[in-house]
Amino acid sequence: MSPRALVLGATGHIGAHVVRALLADGHPVRAAYHNPRFLSVLEGLPIERVQVDLERDEELSRALEGYEWVFDAAGYYPRIQERRAHAIERGIASVNRLMRSLLHTRPSRVVFTSSAATIRQVPGRLANETDAEPWSPRHGGATLPRQRGWFRLGRPQDQWRPLYATVKIAMEHEALRFVSEGLPIVVVNPSLCVGEYDAHRFSGRAVLAFAKYRLPCYLDYVFNAVYTGDVGVGHVRAAEQGRIGERYLLSCQQVRVRDFARLVATIAGVSPPRWESPRLVAHVLAWGSELVAGMTRREPWLPRQVVHLSRTGQRLDNAKALRELHLPQTPIDEAIRRAIGWFRQEGILAI
Ligand SMILES: NC(=O)c1ccc[n+]([C@@H]2O[C@H](COP(=O)([O-])OP(=O)(O)OC[C@H]3O[C@@H](n4cnc5c(N)ncnc54)[C@H](OP(=O)(O)O)[C@@H]3O)[C@@H](O)[C@H]2O)c1
Repeated sequence: MSPRALVLGATGHIGAHVVRALLADGHPVRAAYHNPRFLSVLEGLPIERVQVDLERDEELSRALEGYEWVFDAAGYYPRIQERRAHAIERGIASVNRLMRSLLHTRPSRVVFTSSAATIRQVPGRLANETDAEPWSPRHGGATLPRQRGWFRLGRPQDQWRPLYATVKIAMEHEALRFVSEGLPIVVVNPSLCVGEYDAHRFSGRAVLAFAKYRLPCYLDYVFNAVYTGDVGVGHVRAAEQGRIGERYLLSCQQVRVRDFARLVATIAGVSPPRWESPRLVAHVLAWGSELVAGMTRREPWLPRQVVHLSRTGQRLDNAKALRELHLPQTPIDEAIRRAIGWFRQEGILAI
């Protein structure tokens, strides 16, 4: 009998693909969702659905009971309005709460979804799982200065590091701490995920920027993108074949923003962006977009995180996941095609 699997964040972009990959392998699945508004991404699937707020201990413990495999794809994304120290504390607390509950239910595998943002870029070669961004426990929220926004200056280790990456690093460290307490945790680190079922449109913004909003310019740098369906399969293989306490980069293709934007435009049938934006202009636009986001309490359309990433680019080596997890590698143009097809089907993008 295949292990019974619980997916936290099952209505999320990655979670919806993990659910499908588990079903394809014949696992009984319990899909934990939060806001019922996003349940449509799981429509028609033969799964048990359970509503869980990860911040409520009782709901969480009830959902975990009796499940051999647990996938934590319920991302805590720090919001632009959140104080930096608070966001880090909240991220760590959410992982701590989950891991403490798991110490009671003792599943045979826990797959923790982290991010490629926790991998440090190395000049002259592709970065891999051994290139961890530095982190020290004293970076825990309480010791950080009170400052708003996605950046904080002043500390050499995370000077200019965006809040998203800092929170992900803190959360990953917190998760891995529980390996020494006996939890069988495997960490997976996806790069930018492109594909269907992206109701929250966190990474989908990269596609919609050129397909829907038809941005006339782009900031050119190299990043890594992966088909979310492959990331779903990678999660299941991490539970089956991943080594406890290890991290696996779930990534695929290095791609220039210019080429990505042209591919998106061609597939969507719109004109491609014409101008490459100088980084200084992008910086100014990003500051402006975060200022507007702060005032309107919405997420910025150009986070400074993107501009930050453009300084180093993101070149990743997924040899470990290919070797140990046999991670599938769907070409990125196919991933874009599927994302656009789904955005059209959902009416998010005009036909
Ligand atoms: N997408 C990417 O390109 C990418 C790349 C690398 C790493 N990641 C990481 O992968 C994880 C998932 O990303 P994603 O893109 O799938 O995110 P997503 O589409 O925004 O989904 C996040 C999921 O988590 C759930 N969730 C959030 N807060 C919750 C809470 N308090 N209780 C229960 N559920 C909660 C959300 O449910 P509600 O919306 O109903 O609250 C949603 O189902 C994140 O940790 C992210 O950092 C994503």
